[in-house]
Amino acid sequence: MKIGLPKERKENEYRVAIIPSNVGRLVDAGHDVYVEHDAGKAAGFSDEMYLEKGTRILSSEEEVFKTCELIIKVKEILPSEFGLLNDKHILFTYIHSANRRPQTEELLNSKCVAFAYEDVKDQNGRFVLLEPMSRIAGEVGLITGVFYSSTTTGGLGKLVCGTPGVKPMKIVIFGAGNVGVSCARLALGLGAEVVLMDTDIHKLEDILANKLPTVKTCFSNRANVSHEIKDADIVFNCVKWFPGLTILSRDMLELMQPNSLIVDIDAEPGGAIESSQYTTHQDPIFVEKGIRHIGIANLPSSDANTASAALSNATIKYILQIANKGWKAAAQDNEDLKYGLDFVKGYLTFKDTADAFGMELTDKEKVLAMF
Ligand SMILES: NC(=O)c1ccc[n+]([C@@H]2O[C@H](COP(=O)([O-])OP(=O)(O)OC[C@H]3O[C@@H](n4cnc5c(N)ncnc54)[C@H](O)[C@@H]3O)[C@@H](O)[C@H]2O)c1
Repeated sequence: MKIGLPKERKENEYRVAIIPSNVGRLVDAGHDVYVEHDAGKAAGFSDEMYLEKGTRILSSEEEVFKTCELIIKVKEILPSEFGLLNDKHILFTYIHSANRRPQTEELLNSKCVAFAYEDVKDQNGRFVLLEPMSRIAGEVGLITGVFYSSTTTGGLGKLVCGTPGVKPMKIVIFGAGNVGVSCARLALGLGAEVVLMDTDIHKLEDILANKLPTVKTCFSNRANVSHEIKDADIVFNCVKWFPGLTILSRDMLELMQPNSLIVDIDAEPGGAIESSQYTTHQDPIFVEKGIRHIGIANLPSSDANTASAALSNATIKYILQIANKGWKAAAQDNEDLKYGLDFVKGYLTFKDTADAFGMELTDKEKVLAMF
C-alpha cells in the first residue's frame, strides 16, 4: 500500500506521526512510504533519516494526498486541508470529531474511511493511543509548572524538592487518571509533597498500594479541595471536564496563596477550573485574582521528539494491520481498531459525534457488510 506522512499544519504542532525507525517496518513489509519534505524536522527527524529507511520525499502535502491511499497524521484535518481527501483515502489520526462539525462534514463529504486514534480501545477498555500522550502531558505539565514557579519567571520562588531545613513544594493534583498519576510520579520523584485527589476511592487505593506508596491521597469534594489548595504551591487539574463540573470555582481562588500557580492540564476554558483560559507554550501565563494560571492544550508538542516516538510506537502495529490487510479486514479482525472506525465512505459510525450534531449514526457491522 502507498502510505503518506504529511507535515502537520496546526499551529504549535511539532510532532510527526511516524518516526524513521518505524517507517522501516512498513518498508520491510513491502509498502511504499512517502514523506512530505521536512515532515519530521521540528521533532528532530530529518528527510535524510527517512530516506535511509527507504522512503521517498515529496515536496508538498497535496502530492502526499494525491500519491497515497493510507494517510497517517497526528492532528485533525484543518480547514486549510479540506479538499485533499477523497473516497480512495484511509485516514488514521487524532480526529475528535464530536466537537468539530466542519471537519465531520468534510470527512463525510469526502467519502474517505477514517480511524480515530482516540477511539481505538483494547480488550481491557484502555484507550491505547491516548495513553502515551496522557502520560507525557502529565510530565510536561509538571515540568512546566515547576519552571513557572521560579522567582525568575515571576513565581513563588520555591524549590520543588526544598532543602535541608526548608520544606519542599506542596503540589495538589485533581484526577488520578493517566495524566494525574504521571504528573504525581514525577513530582514525587523530584521530592515534592504530593496530594492526589479523586472521587474514585478504589483508584486511590490501587495507586497507594501498587504505584505511588508515598503519595498522599484525598477524596475530592468542595470541602477537601478548599482545605488542600490553601497552602498549595501548584495545583494541577487532570480531570476531564463534563458539563456542570466545577472543582475549583472563581471564589475559591481567594483561598489560595497569592502568586501560586494553577496548571489546567485538561485546559478547558471555564471548565473544572472556572477561571481557566487557553494559553500557549509561547505565552503560557495569565493571572486572575493574584493566582497565576497555565492552560496549554497541546503540552506533549513541546517535547516533540519523545512524543512522536511514543505515538508512533503505539500506532505502528495498527498501521501495519491496515496496510497489510486493507481497512475492512483490519477492522473485522481487530476489535481495537473497529472501535476507532468512525467514518466509512460517507457514513458516520461514531455515536458521540452523531449525538453531538444530530446526525445519522450507521452501525459499524452494517457498513462493514456494505463495502
Ligand atoms: N493539555 C494536554 O496537552 C493534554 C494531553 C493529554 C490529555 N489531556 C487531558 O487530560 C485530562 C485527563 O486525562 P486522563 O487520560 O488522565 O483522564 P482519566 O479519565 O484517565 O482520569 C480522570 C480522573 O479524574 C477523576 N475525577 C472525575 N471527577 C473528579 C473530581 N470531581 N475530582 C477529582 N477527580 C475526579 C476520575 O475518577 C479519573 O480518575 C483529559 O481531559 C485529557 O483530554 C490534556
